[in-house]
Amino acid sequence: MTVHELVEAFRRQFPDAGEPIVVRAPGRVNLIGEHTDYNDGYVLPMAIDAQIMLAGSLRDDQEVHLYSLDFQSGDRFSLGEIQRSTKATWTNYIRGVCSMFLEFTPLKGMNIVLTGNVPQGAGLSSSAALEVGTALLIRNLNGLDTDAVELAKLAQRAENEFVGVNCGIMDQFISGLGKQGHVLFLDCRSLEYELVPAPFADKNASVVVIDSGVKRGLVSSEYNLRRSQCEAAVRELQKDLPQIRALRDVGAADLVLVEKLPPDLCKRARHVITENQRVLDAVKYLAAGDLRAFGLLMNQSHASLRNDYEVSCQELDLLVELAQSVPGTYGSRMTGAGFGGCTVSLVDNDYVGRLKAVVMEQYPAQSGLKPRIFVFNASEGAQQLV
Ligand code: GLA
Repeated sequence: MTVHELVEAFRRQFPDAGEPIVVRAPGRVNLIGEHTDYNDGYVLPMAIDAQIMLAGSLRDDQEVHLYSLDFQSGDRFSLGEIQRSTKATWTNYIRGVCSMFLEFTPLKGMNIVLTGNVPQGAGLSSSAALEVGTALLIRNLNGLDTDAVELAKLAQRAENEFVGVNCGIMDQFISGLGKQGHVLFLDCRSLEYELVPAPFADKNASVVVIDSGVKRGLVSSEYNLRRSQCEAAVRELQKDLPQIRALRDVGAADLVLVEKLPPDLCKRARHVITENQRVLDAVKYLAAGDLRAFGLLMNQSHASLRNDYEVSCQELDLLVELAQSVPGTYGSRMTGAGFGGCTVSLVDNDYVGRLKAVVMEQYPAQSGLKPRIFVFNASEGAQQLV
C-alpha cells in the first residue's frame, strides 16, 4: 500500500479528523547473535523492507480510536484507563506504548489507521515494528523530543511490562535505528552501536529468509526458561568469577569453568559465549567483504542453537540443511527466538533460484508444510514519511 492510499483510507475512516502524519517502522531479520541480547551481548540484525505504516492525527479528547486495514477491524480505548484487551490483542502493543509515554508525559487522544506487510507470527518482529511505529507516531504528533534509542527502550518496556513478553532490546532497537544498506552491530549492554555497510549487493549476494510455517508455540515458556538458565549459569560461575555480571563477561578462556556446570546450564552458557565471539568475528568479516567466512559463522551459529541452546526444531533444521546443500549458499541458520519461524541464508544471486526450487520441492514433501520465501534488502529504520 502506498502512503497516499493509507492517507485516503484514514480520511474515509475518520472524515472529521485533521490531516494525519504517516510513519513507518520495519521488521527485522537477525543475521547472527541469537539469544545474546538479554545476556548483555552482541547482535547483528538488519531492518527489512517489510514494514508497518501508521497514519495518525490528534484528537481533542483522551480517546484513542484505531482501525487496522489488514484485520478490517477497529477498536478504541481511553488514555485515562488503559487495560489489556483480550479481544483485539493486536491493540495491546499500541496500548502498551501509550501507557509507557504516560509515565512521563501527558498525551492527547489520537485517531490511527494502520497497515503492514511484515509476515506475522514468523519471528520477523512485526510486534516490535508496531511498537516502534506507534512510539514514533506519538512522539511526533505530540512534539516530544525523545530520541530514537529512548523510543526503542520505551517500546521494549511496552512489550515487557504491558504485553508481558520478556524480550531483549534487539528487535525494537533495529526497527528504530536501522539504516538502508546497512546492518546494525549492537552492544546490548552499553547500547553503543555501529551501522556496518552491508556488502551483499556489491558481492552479488542476497539475504534469503524462509518461513518454516511452524507457529512458534512454545516460544514464550521456553524463552523465559532459557533466560532463567542463563541467569542461573551466571550465579554458578560467579563463585569462581565474582566480577562477572552476565554471560557477556565470560570469555573463551573461561570455557573450562563453564564445562563444570550442570549439563543444561553448561550448554546454554556455551552457546551464548561462543555466539558473542561469532558476532565479533562476523562484523570483521563483513567489513572485509568476506562472505565465505561470514557464512561459516552462520552455519556454526545454527549448530550451536540446535545442539547447545536447543531452540531449533526439525523443520528449521531441514530448511537449513536444504539451504546448505545448495552450492551458492554462503551460510544458513535459524533466526529469531526459534521453535519455528524463519531461517536466514546468505546466498549468491546466481543460486537464489536454485535454492527456491530445492526448498519448494523438498520442504513440503518432508515436512507437510508450505514455506514462504522472501529476499529482503536492508532498509531504513523507523521514520516519518509525511
Ligand atoms: C526474540 C526477542 C529478542 C531476542 C531474540 C533471540 O526475537 O524478542 O529480544 O532475544 O528472540 O535472539
